[in-house]
Amino acid sequence: MNASSKSESLYRRAQAVLPGGVSRNAVLRAPCPIYASHGRGCRVTDIEGVERLDVANNMASLIHGHAYAPVVEAVTEQLRHGSAWNMATEVEVEYAEAMTRRVPGFDRIRFVNSGTEAILCALKAARAYTGRPKIAKVEGAYHGVYDYAEVSQTATPTDWGAPEHPASVPVCSGTPRGVLDDVIVIPFNDPAMAMALLDEHAEQLACVLVDPLPHRVGMIPASDEFVDAIHAWTRRNDSLLVFDEVITFRIGYAGAQERYRVRPDITALGKIIGGGFPVGALAGRAEVMDVLDPLRKPLLFPHSGTFSANPVTMTAGLTAMRYFDRAAVGQLNALGDRARRQIAEAIVGEQMPLSVTGAGSMFRIHPTRLAPANYREAFHPPALAALKQRIVEGALERGVLLIESCSGALSTPMIESDIDEITDVLAASFRAARPLAEIIGT
Ligand SMILES: Cc1ncc(COP(=O)(O)O)c(C=O)c1O
Repeated sequence: MNASSKSESLYRRAQAVLPGGVSRNAVLRAPCPIYASHGRGCRVTDIEGVERLDVANNMASLIHGHAYAPVVEAVTEQLRHGSAWNMATEVEVEYAEAMTRRVPGFDRIRFVNSGTEAILCALKAARAYTGRPKIAKVEGAYHGVYDYAEVSQTATPTDWGAPEHPASVPVCSGTPRGVLDDVIVIPFNDPAMAMALLDEHAEQLACVLVDPLPHRVGMIPASDEFVDAIHAWTRRNDSLLVFDEVITFRIGYAGAQERYRVRPDITALGKIIGGGFPVGALAGRAEVMDVLDPLRKPLLFPHSGTFSANPVTMTAGLTAMRYFDRAAVGQLNALGDRARRQIAEAIVGEQMPLSVTGAGSMFRIHPTRLAPANYREAFHPPALAALKQRIVEGALERGVLLIESCSGALSTPMIESDIDEITDVLAASFRAARPLAEIIGT
């Protein structure tokens, strides 16, 4: 990036008015963020005129890539009529019907404005339903920025505590002690240890929150044994199972949950269900969701949101999900299989100390020979983080935009040759990073 680039001067302006010059930390890069100009299909062009293959898809939220014609047309038409009113709309009912038809366990759905808000509401609904204060979550799992949901997300070897008793580590300075005391942190995919921890708080736990493919924990699927054990535990202890499918809803027609033998009581949604617009939702069993029912006396969980279920988001989401039918899900996941297979081959071909995980239309590359099994194994000391970063930057220089964690989320405009392009670029980036890997001696 030369000193006189448009991005550098924009970033200088931004630093005077936005904390750190950004509105979301994920776009920060050295020496400055990349500023987008426009996108079409699976390609995005920045304000310097550089076009790249977009494998980040706005943090996995764009299932049809950029400027998807059916969404553009439907939303443009909606905008001609208005974008939000103090009234309910037909499209929110239509979208709710489509989503409840789509997923067997979704009797009722409430739309909100982000994944964070969906998780926040799911946890509050669980507390309201059970009358209990505590929640349990998996160590390291990202669930947005709600106080309770973010506990332990950035735990490090210095503060994460013993494996059999993971510490409730705060993310944000000033997090109240009471929040930390009310969050029980459990290890991923370890049913015995998780059950022992849950048992210690059995009468106080409103719910156990599980992401079936937690990104920060290594992007490895939750095992059937883990999910079954937690589900059974919640049945025995009058608690609830909450799934975070904010990202993973993209990996199955009815989300990742269709792969499991049991159903969550509440599911938090976001990202792709907004068709490119801000969205969140919680959906689940009628009896539980009815804590939100304002006709009910007493109303256990009063909830509002100025832009909740606004017709622009509802129209975009309904259109996007209509086109993400079973055939589209199958095709996209086949591309995901191809990507993971070819990345694994490139790792072997380039003799790099790397591994690849993921499922459906997602992948993540790790700077370790063995794929991690949990957050502690997925946590990287600085040298390994530098190797991962070198690969992300190498891919960027070669025209492929990844998620900063060295992950990718595919979109339906992609075809096999795009996957080949991604994996060729990754192989070249691995090769270029080999000297660093040799210095680190992994
Ligand atoms: C699994 C998961 N849950 C919740 C969230 C929060 O969603 P949002 O960024 O829309 O608030 C995210 C965002 O990346 C996520 O990946």
